[in-house]
Amino acid sequence: MRWRARAATSRAKERANISFFIFVMFFAVFGVIVLTELLLLERPNAPGSTRSRYNEELQNWEGKTETGGEGGSPPPPAHAPLDAVWQPVAGTRFRFYVYSAYVERRTVAAVRVIAATKTRGADAVICRLWLPDNRTLTLKARVKPIRENWNLKYSATYVLCLLRGSGVKPQETVGASLSVLASSSPNRPPTNLLTVLDTEPKSGIEETLHVCVKPFHFSYARDEWLLEWFELNRLLGVSHFYMYNESLSTPVACLLDHYRKQGLVTLLPWKLPIVSKVEIRTEGQFAAFNDCLYRSMSVAGWLLVIDVDEVVMPRRERTLSALLTALRAAYNPPSKAPSAFLFRNAFFYLRWEDDAEAPAPLVTARKTRRWAAPHALKNRSKYALRPRDAVELGNHFVWELAPGASSVGVPTDRALLHHYRIACEYGGVQCLTVPSTVDRTSHRWSDELLQRVNAEKEKYSRTCHI
Ligand SMILES: *[C@@H]1O[C@H](CO)[C@@H](O)[C@H](O)[C@H]1NC(C)=O
Ligand SMILES: *[C@@H]1O[C@H](CO)[C@@H](O)[C@H](O)[C@H]1NC(C)=O
Ligand SMILES: *[C@@H]1O[C@H](CO)[C@@H](O)[C@H](O)[C@H]1NC(C)=O
Repeated sequence: MRWRARAATSRAKERANISFFIFVMFFAVFGVIVLTELLLLERPNAPGSTRSRYNEELQNWEGKTETGGEGGSPPPPAHAPLDAVWQPVAGTRFRFYVYSAYVERRTVAAVRVIAATKTRGADAVICRLWLPDNRTLTLKARVKPIRENWNLKYSATYVLCLLRGSGVKPQETVGASLSVLASSSPNRPPTNLLTVLDTEPKSGIEETLHVCVKPFHFSYARDEWLLEWFELNRLLGVSHFYMYNESLSTPVACLLDHYRKQGLVTLLPWKLPIVSKVEIRTEGQFAAFNDCLYRSMSVAGWLLVIDVDEVVMPRRERTLSALLTALRAAYNPPSKAPSAFLFRNAFFYLRWEDDAEAPAPLVTARKTRRWAAPHALKNRSKYALRPRDAVELGNHFVWELAPGASSVGVPTDRALLHHYRIACEYGGVQCLTVPSTVDRTSHRWSDELLQRVNAEKEKYSRTCHI
């Protein structure tokens, strides 16, 4: 009896001990969980926590103005600002380069940077701006690939440094220095520094016509033809050419220098360290077209985007400026007039026979046979536009116009894009089979053109030794 009672008491005691142990363990575990939560929530700057990253974003992206000189202010730029040089953005996962910066007042209050980087999943960046009055600003930035990127890994890109909330107006950024920085390392010393250029159209430029040409590459060497092309375009009313130099032959470089000294040519370096055709569409040409658009905006009433084997020839007017004015004058009210005019492409194969009636020994006078039916609009077409009304240019048409602006095709009885092509399509078959016609529009300028080509050749051959 006695031992049975003793056994019962010890079993009860055992059970109570286990219950107590479980009870203590439960509170211990619960306590640890609560403590951990409390510690994490109280330290919002703990690296890696979601909350801290959010705070950092707010801090960097609120268009904050910093006063110089205080501890913790961003490091100053290491070199003087540069324009039209590809400069790297450091600390990004994918290669990121910037080329130029322009004031944007139309679509959004911003500084628009011409850049090149990964087409999709580009690194996040911010902009730092050093204003002429010594204020330093850190701005939120939007990275936007330029549409015509052919789905390659890298693309010409816009970086929009957004001014909203900064208290700074677009106008105040003219002449400022700007650096694009990786969001992941905002306090790293800047590896790029650009000058912010103005885009506000000056008065009295309505009739001026400038030309944009994609970067010269493969040591472009057709200097004799280029001279004829320049002089014909000048006769057609062009007063300035924007060109980009990836590579050029010595004679072409000399010819361009000859025109540059007369204020006719702006030749900009174009060494983009991204492999052309493999990683990015031909020499990053869409960055060049769009750089040209913003570069010319304050000084060109009209911009013509063509290649050096193409000439737009009006069929009634003597100059392109007269044609464009006439095309716009046909609209009433004038505010309804289109801002961009597309010209249909017609191939003039250089392999086709010379015209027996050529009035001058010039390519455009000799090569008058062309495709009977010009290409459809937007298929190899080129265009002239009011730069102030355009946001994004493509090769054969305008991708984005400013709100309210429009674009139309020019009837073939008013003008054609004469495309002087060396190679025939499809390994030469096209030269034999495509229906063709003789078109002597170019002869209207031949006599005057020959005089000017000879005069200019005389001048530049003295310095270029040809
Ligand atoms: C900006 O800073 C420079 C150098 O510190 C000084 O010479 C200049 O007067 C300042 N400009 C303004 C507008 O404060
Ligand atoms: C064109 O660019 C090449 C390569 O960057 C350079 O070596 C050459 O001097 C440039 N030519 C001119 C005329 O600027
Ligand atoms: C462009 O025009 C050519 C010749 O008319 C035609 O063969 C080709 O299919 C056209 N391309 C497109 C994308 O429409």
